Amino acid sequence: MSATVTVEICMGTTCYVMGSAQLAGIAERLPEEWKSRVTVKGMRCTGACQKAEQFGRAPFVRVNGEIIAEADEGKILSAIRAALEQ
Ligand code: FES
Repeated sequence: MSATVTVEICMGTTCYVMGSAQLAGIAERLPEEWKSRVTVKGMRCTGACQKAEQFGRAPFVRVNGEIIAEADEGKILSAIRAALEQ
């Protein structure tokens, strides 16, 4: 099993104000056994924050390209777990 997961945290103004700043530290809080398989990085505003009816609400995070709205650590960890188990 060598699946890897990329987590992109939106650092645009809306997401930042809505809490993405706190989420950026998630890399350090990942379970030890995930750390070599998960890459956490920032991303620029994708425009999702302008289309609440389509994407939901900020903050937005992408896990392997899939958008998570109103992201919090619990949602991100679940998405990582699902991606690692694929
Ligand atoms: S600021 Fe995050 S999607 Fe726009």
